[in-house]
Order: sequence, then C-alpha cells, then structure tokens
Amino acid sequence: MIFKTIVRPILFNCDAETAHRLTIHGLSSAPVLGAPVFDPVLKVTVADIDFASPVGLAAGFDKDAEVWREMLGLGFGFVEVGSITPRPQDGNPKPRLFRLVEDRGVINRMGFNNRGHDAAVRRLTGRARNGIVGVNLGANKDASDRIADYAQGVRAFAPLADYLAINISSPNTPGLRGLQQGDALADLLAAVADARGLSGPPVFLKLAPDLSAAEIDDIAKVVSGKVDALIMGNTTLSREGLTSRHRDEAGGLSGKPLAAKARTALVDLRKATGGAIPIVAAGGIDSAEEAYARIRMGASLVQIYSAMVYHGPGLPRRIATELAALLRRDGFSSLGDAVGADD
Ligand code: FNR
Repeated sequence: MIFKTIVRPILFNCDAETAHRLTIHGLSSAPVLGAPVFDPVLKVTVADIDFASPVGLAAGFDKDAEVWREMLGLGFGFVEVGSITPRPQDGNPKPRLFRLVEDRGVINRMGFNNRGHDAAVRRLTGRARNGIVGVNLGANKDASDRIADYAQGVRAFAPLADYLAINISSPNTPGLRGLQQGDALADLLAAVADARGLSGPPVFLKLAPDLSAAEIDDIAKVVSGKVDALIMGNTTLSREGLTSRHRDEAGGLSGKPLAAKARTALVDLRKATGGAIPIVAAGGIDSAEEAYARIRMGASLVQIYSAMVYHGPGLPRRIATELAALLRRDGFSSLGDAVGADD
C-alpha cells in the first residue's frame, strides 16, 4: 500500500535509471531482513541446489552485487547478480532505460554497464552461504575474444557463486546473440566447461525469447549434457501491441508485453529438451498465477524483474505465498510434481 501511494509516485517522478539508483541506495541503507520462511510445498531441487522458493530475482537489477542480501530478505528464493564483464564498462549513453507505464513494460539498452569482475568478487568474497546467489556473466563490448571473457568469469566466480549463468542473449551488445548458434555455442560451452573444471558450480545458459522453434531445437541438441539448466529468457526485440510513447526506443523489451512470447519460447524449449534439462522461466511474470502457469508449462524456477517496478518490494513474498496455495489447491504436495503438468 505504502509502495503504491507514496514510494511509486516518487520513483515514477524520476527518470527510470535515477529511480533504480535510488532504489539500490535505499535498499543498501535499510536493515537486512532475515531470510523468510517459505511453505515447504515450494521446495525444489535444481542442478543439485535446494531452493526454498522457486521465485528468484532476474539478472540486471543487482548488476554489481550490491544488494543481494537485501533482496533475499525481501523474499526471493534466489538472486542472480550481474551481468558482470571482466573489465568495468559504462554501457550505452543515457537515457537508456524507459518505463512503458500503459503497457506495464520496460525497454532497456543499458549495454552491460557494470564495475567489472574485481569489484563484484570483493563484494561476494566471504559471504555466508545462507541464501542462493547466482552470478550472471557477460562479455565486454570491445572484447577481442568474447568466449575468453566468459571463461575468465567462470574462473573468477566459481568459488563464490551457487550457480553461474552464461548470458548470450542480451540484445544490447552487438553480435552477442550470435553465440547462441551452432559451432560458436559449442566452442563457448567447451571453454566454460574447461574453466569450471570438475568441482565448479552448475552452469545455466540464458537464451533469447526471439529464437524460433527450429533454432531452439538446434540449441537443445548442442547443449544436451553440457549445461545444468536453461533460462528462457532475456528481453525481446519485438514491439508487438505496445501503446506507450516510448514504444519505439531501441533495446530489449521486458515486463507484461513480453509474457506471451516468453511462454511460447518456454513451451518450445520444453519440447526440444524433452524435460531433460531444467528450465528457469523469465519474462513478464507478475503474479502467482503466471508463475504457476510457467511451472505447469515446464519451468522448475521462475525469475522476475520488471514487475517489481510496478508492484513493488512485496511482490516476491506475495507470489510465493499465493503459489503455495495454488499448488495445494490442485493437489500437488511438492512443486516438482507440478513441473510440466501441462505437457
Ligand atoms: C535486464 N535483463 C538482464 N539480463 C541479463 O542476463 N543481464 C543483464 O545485465 C540484464 N540487465 C537488465 C536490465 C534491465 C533494466 C532489465 C529490465 C532487464 C533481463 C532480465 O534479467 C529478464 O530476463 C527480463 O527482463 C525478463 O523478465 P521481466 O523483466 O519481464 O520479469
């Protein structure tokens, strides 16, 4: 209530990036809440990691690993920090982040602005392992060898992360999505496996929702046995059905207008992998009903970002509570039993 009547109007009065900085600043100055207790029906094990709740924070909110403790305290079952590139980089010129209020969407062309590996390594070193933190890796825009950037990220964060997410689906680094194809993808995964070694954390691969069913089939063949989970997915280049004045801004679209595309891509990915690789669903999830629908379509975990802009910090806790009720209503005694129930 306080969010909708007081906090959101203040934040919406600022440009979107300033609002984001204010939020990070506010969070990092607030007392950290203890990890919430979740309904046991929400427990799920993915890639040998035990998640107390399947509702996570997607990458891009906490790019520099500044507020993952606070976000876990708000009721996320896991937090993905990043994307982090080896060297710090400024990203694209501002403005580069836009709220599409009428559409309940966001367009961003941040371009991997972040403070680089060393700064995030310092923040994550020595952390208590009492909440799940994934580290999402990117490549520098001017890298001469992008695959080497990912391998460097794997080596830097393997001792610190519960899982590593390889992000080759940001639309804001020219050419990056090309790594989703055939030989380039195989080379990338070989370099990542080599850097991780035998004892490193699980590797998740983050894909674009703009892939066709045929492209998803090809990817499934290449990644089989080589990644521990797939994230579907990132923002979209599509601009279908938008009304907001910012609709023609360049960048990736997220939030409610992404939901339909993210659902289709999830179903295609589930079909292509035959349920053999766990899937993390992201894109336009803003309620327990939507989270539950993605789980029934084959997701083992879900992530949210844009909906936090519109619904505020109570959202992860609300989704977790209501999702538990939906599972019980339909007779599921454990979340895992609902995964792919609509197959
Ligand atoms: C993102 N996202 C993102 N993803 C990623 O892998 N690395 C990143 O650095 C970022 N950065 C980023 C910035 C901003 C401002 C937004 C809105 C999003 C994508 C994000 O993790 C998620 O995949 C999509 O936003 C879809 O989920 P939502 O926002 O519709 O819930």
